[in-house]
Amino acid sequence: MKELKGIPTRDQALDILKEAEMTSPGVWIEHSKNVARAARIIAHRTKNINPDYAFSLGLLHDIGRKDGAMHMRHIFVGYQYLSNLGYETAARICLTHSFAYKDINGIYGKWDCSQSEIDFISQYITKTKYDIYDKLIQLCDSFSMSNGYLLIEKKMVNSIINHGINEETIHKLKAVLDLKNYFDKEVGESIYNLLPGVIQNTFGFTIR
Ligand SMILES: [Fe+2]
Repeated sequence: MKELKGIPTRDQALDILKEAEMTSPGVWIEHSKNVARAARIIAHRTKNINPDYAFSLGLLHDIGRKDGAMHMRHIFVGYQYLSNLGYETAARICLTHSFAYKDINGIYGKWDCSQSEIDFISQYITKTKYDIYDKLIQLCDSFSMSNGYLLIEKKMVNSIINHGINEETIHKLKAVLDLKNYFDKEVGESIYNLLPGVIQNTFGFTIR
């Protein structure tokens, strides 16, 4: 398995998240932990993803939220923060996790960055060749809530109700569903089979 630089260990990532929780508690903390756990579960079922890397990257993908409530700017804040700590790969994931579809307008929510920051992000995602870790965290973000896992389409509908839809978000939805198919093949079955609670959360009943 390929060794990568710029990723904190599990304990370092947990410490970073814990410190962020002290200044900016919120549902994003549990969401981040769920992304990390799902990424590790899926990684364990593949030959080419390091589960420890997957866990740390999932844990820190939204770390920009440490600076309080914000919209899309959290991806830029997280990128800067982790870059300054020397974790380049984890920093990259902060920016790429929102762009399964590489278009600056393919977002839920709104831009609260300066124009120069938006231009930087746009150029960055255009020039970055995604590896399997970018794709894995994009996928895990698409089905992870703060209280568990959910059918991707159901989370998408929630996002559309909250933020609306445009031509680019339709492309984004397709890109995320393509990622799901990609990882189904990687693990040899539906990824939903690996996610605890996804059926109960999606259909609202408990299997006994
Ligand atoms: Fe997220």
